[in-house]
Amino acid sequence: MREAGSARCEPANVLVTGGAGFIGVNFIRYLLGRNDFDGRVINYDALTYAGNPASLADIEREWGGTRYFFVRGDVADREAVDRVLGEHAIDTIVHFAAESHVDRSIVGPEAFVRTNVTGTFTLLEAARAAWQAGGGFREGVRFHHISTDEVYGSLGETGYFTEETPYDPRSPYSASKAASDHLVMAYWHTYGLPVTLSNCSNNYGPYHFPEKLIPLMILNMLEGLELPVYGDGRNVRDWLYVEDHAAAVWDIVRGGWPGQKYNVGGGNEWENLRLVERLAEIVAERTGMSAEAIRAKITFVRDRPGHDRRYAIDCSKIGRELGWRPSVTFEEGLARTVDWYLGNGDWVREVRSGEYRRWIERNYGTREQ
Ligand code: NAD
Ligand code: TYD
Repeated sequence: MREAGSARCEPANVLVTGGAGFIGVNFIRYLLGRNDFDGRVINYDALTYAGNPASLADIEREWGGTRYFFVRGDVADREAVDRVLGEHAIDTIVHFAAESHVDRSIVGPEAFVRTNVTGTFTLLEAARAAWQAGGGFREGVRFHHISTDEVYGSLGETGYFTEETPYDPRSPYSASKAASDHLVMAYWHTYGLPVTLSNCSNNYGPYHFPEKLIPLMILNMLEGLELPVYGDGRNVRDWLYVEDHAAAVWDIVRGGWPGQKYNVGGGNEWENLRLVERLAEIVAERTGMSAEAIRAKITFVRDRPGHDRRYAIDCSKIGRELGWRPSVTFEEGLARTVDWYLGNGDWVREVRSGEYRRWIERNYGTREQ
């Protein structure tokens, strides 16, 4: 076991991979809004169906070319990664880029292995080469890997995932994330690359791609469409407002111990069906629609194969060591999220056009129409 190095890290040039996706966009907004950071953010993103640079158009206007740079590139492309690390003198990597949707991983797992496993490996190798100095690494460099609680598998009615829970992934998505986590930790143990890792529960909030439960339900409610609940609707997820996740990542990057992993969660467990019913009430309050009419659209559909029953996170370590805790209540977060979707019709129309719609049609027929 390696000795942990210094916990304090003061990033100057931060490479955010996947910064055009849901959490990456929120993280970049959070970071450039902070007054304890005056460095530069380089957003490195391949712009798959899930990436939308328009989500950062205002950031580009305000900071483009001074503190914010967008580079289109693939994390699995070693030459392009080497180039961006060198040209922007990157000292910190915050690695969000991934294929992230469980249902897609069931239909087409290959992209998940390529981006999540090979892509993470490629970034680790590039960082190892770029940051080496003497027999070790330059001072002040850091590689933070963003992962999920889904690597731990599925819980029954009781219990929580801790940082010591053995990995037991069940979907191609969670298996690919588990593989990437193991590689990240191996680079610490084997080479001493200063890495940190976080395993977070389900996020929700603005800019969330509408293939995931909460934005999909909000938009279907607004459009009077069916609300497809998988199985019996009793699966449980632990929901965290995305800005709270951004804050946790920043706390770990700056103060987390190299070689350590941290669980991040909302302490906020909801059964899917109850969540959809609560969302119906919030959408009704904010639009004048009838909650009863919205709820009548709930349709139980075929369950997801290998559907994990319950996720729940014990995040006492990050609270104890770094003082982080969630700050946005679920009521407040859901209301903000519904308002955001109500106010951002252009964004919604854009991300639901093109490749996204074709994929939905290929794999789910006309369910969404
Ligand atoms: P997302 O699907 O919304 O965004 C992923 C981003 O990565 C997109 O901008 C996409 O263009 C980019 N990308 C995909 N493949 C790439 C490649 N090969 N090279 C470069 N860029 C590529 O995902 P998200 O929900 O923002 O999740 C971000 C990270 O957080 C992922 O690593 C995910 O596993 C993790 N995570 C997500 C959640 C959640 O609830 N969404 C919870 C815990 C952990
Ligand atoms: P999702 O947002 O895909 O996140 P994850 O699978 O990573 O937890 O799904 C959250 C929960 O909602 C999960 O239990 C599956 C369920 N779900 C539905 O019931 N209907 C849907 O249309 C979707 C997308 C998800």
